[in-house]
Amino acid sequence: MSLLPPHGGALINRKAPEDVSNVAADIELDEIALSDLELIANGAFSPLTGFLNEKDYHNVVENMKLENGNTWSIPITLPVSEEKAEELKETEKARLVYQGETYGVINIESLYQPDKQKEAVQVYRTDDEAHPGVNTLYLRPSVYVGGPITLTNEINHDAFSSYYLDPAETRATFEERGWKRVVGFQTRNPVHRAHEYIQKAALEIVDGLFLNPLVGATKPGDIPADVRMESYEVLLDQYYPADRTFLAVFPAAMRYAGPREAIFHAIVRKNYGCTHFIVGRDHAGVGDYYGTYDAQAIFNDVDREDLAIEPLFFEHSFYCRACENMASHKTCPHDKSQHVILSGTKVREMLLNEEKPPAEFSRPEVIEVLINGMKQTV
Ligand code: ADX
Repeated sequence: MSLLPPHGGALINRKAPEDVSNVAADIELDEIALSDLELIANGAFSPLTGFLNEKDYHNVVENMKLENGNTWSIPITLPVSEEKAEELKETEKARLVYQGETYGVINIESLYQPDKQKEAVQVYRTDDEAHPGVNTLYLRPSVYVGGPITLTNEINHDAFSSYYLDPAETRATFEERGWKRVVGFQTRNPVHRAHEYIQKAALEIVDGLFLNPLVGATKPGDIPADVRMESYEVLLDQYYPADRTFLAVFPAAMRYAGPREAIFHAIVRKNYGCTHFIVGRDHAGVGDYYGTYDAQAIFNDVDREDLAIEPLFFEHSFYCRACENMASHKTCPHDKSQHVILSGTKVREMLLNEEKPPAEFSRPEVIEVLINGMKQTV
């Protein structure tokens, strides 16, 4: 047995140092589009070769599928203003520019007006503007540009640059290490004891753990990526077996789309070379928009053969004082008064006040990094 093939059969590579100086039009990217450009180009979003064109977009929004039949749950779109769309009608190609720097080029196949409310309800299960993903969707411009892209210029990542690896590189690493079964872990948080518990429970049945924190755009209130990276390094160094653990970043924006994003996260981790993917409590959720296990239930609604990567579902986990152990509602018979459970908001508040959450909630070494890091960011 070897690693699973990428989604759609082959890893996409849309990187080519092309001279685009004579392309007539420019599209200014936002941070989300820049990260999407990079992830399309490096194959993490295989089989996508560009931003969704109109047909794929409608199919993804309505059926969670691309036109070719592959499962795809999150629309990867390139929004531009109406004025820009008028200008683009006259041209076939546009340079993709971020803060004055050209990173790529798009071959324009379609220019279309999305129904954003419909997109919100289908993808996010709500059109409430207070939802951070819906809010971003509404704030972005109103016309979408679809078509294949080329990344002509590598994006420079100054911070923790050694952790930016393309799927071809992570796959090669897994193979070098002889890992045949690899579990992927998505996170936008520090790794607390509950995360560690489910990661290690999963690692008991596979060969390697791929810790793949999302480091693209997140909402205010989430702990910044550079602080998190330092906390992962400290934790891995002291509590994880180096030959069975591998850390690399996932430079995507967080959508907070709960169930739909869980499918998307699983597909991307398959492209990075994982055979298994952890989905715990309220995966990629925010506030009370999704039920605790909605992101697990949605796996019943997709073609599992096409998905291929195996989701590993975990119940809400915590430290139980009576068990004297990490546990979950599935494995612990005790009353909730015995359980050490803290909300993300509560933890952040404690860290900002330099108050240490209990060691049963998070390793002291991690807490120390977080308290120091938070001091520098406020
Ligand atoms: S997420 O937005 O990236 O999903 P987070 O970093 O909190 O947020 O979660 C990472 C993964 O761990 C997700 O699969 C999530 O469901 C799972 N998870 C987080 N906390 C718990 C917990 N206490 N018990 C079980 N699973 C959890």
